[in-house]
Amino acid sequence: MQYPATHLVVMGVAGSGKSTIAAALSRQLGWACAEADEFHPQSNIDKMSQGIPLQDEDRWPWLQQIQDWMTGQARAGRSTVLTCSALKRSYRRLLSDAEGRVLFIHLDGEAALISERMQGREGHFMPPTLLPSQLATLEPLSPEELAEGSLRLDISRSPEQLIEAILGALKLPSDRARCAH
Ligand SMILES: Nc1ncnc2c1ncn2[C@@H]1O[C@H](COP(=O)(O)OP(=O)(O)O)[C@@H](O)[C@H]1O
Ligand SMILES: [Mg+2]
Repeated sequence: MQYPATHLVVMGVAGSGKSTIAAALSRQLGWACAEADEFHPQSNIDKMSQGIPLQDEDRWPWLQQIQDWMTGQARAGRSTVLTCSALKRSYRRLLSDAEGRVLFIHLDGEAALISERMQGREGHFMPPTLLPSQLATLEPLSPEELAEGSLRLDISRSPEQLIEAILGALKLPSDRARCAH
């Protein structure tokens, strides 16, 4: 039997653990995985490389591209795991319009812990103002979003504990919670 696709959007500010958790989830579930950053149009890449902050009008076509990818995967019978900061509810609303069930997993934590993890991360440059501005922009999951099955998790826990919590909360049918390795 073909189940409708599920899309897990791992969200949160930079350094909250999105890439780490999404990679582990997609490995365990055998679901298609993508990073939102891969979907930026060239005009956004040009802006970002010049240090010009993106405006919401730059983000709509990018988020639409991501939504289209999710829908394409769903039509091909695949569920997905996506990393996307998805800081504002309006961004999440656009992603939610993808075909299939869209659930957000907000990796939330103290600014000091996130900042510490950012320092320890290799191969990424992080301007010191990025975290405060991201935290100021962040609109946490609303009661309605949480009621629809989206999750907020505290990142003081280990990646293994977070994965276990996510898989437990999703109550996936056992034939889907397979291990791909
Ligand atoms: N739950 C966790 N516990 C400890 N360290 C973590 C956890 N999640 C992520 N990390 C580490 O924190 C850093 C940032 O994680 P990353 O997945 O790159 O975040 P993001 O993709 O949200 O920017 C990485 O060095 C990663 O190994
Ligand atoms: Mg990342």
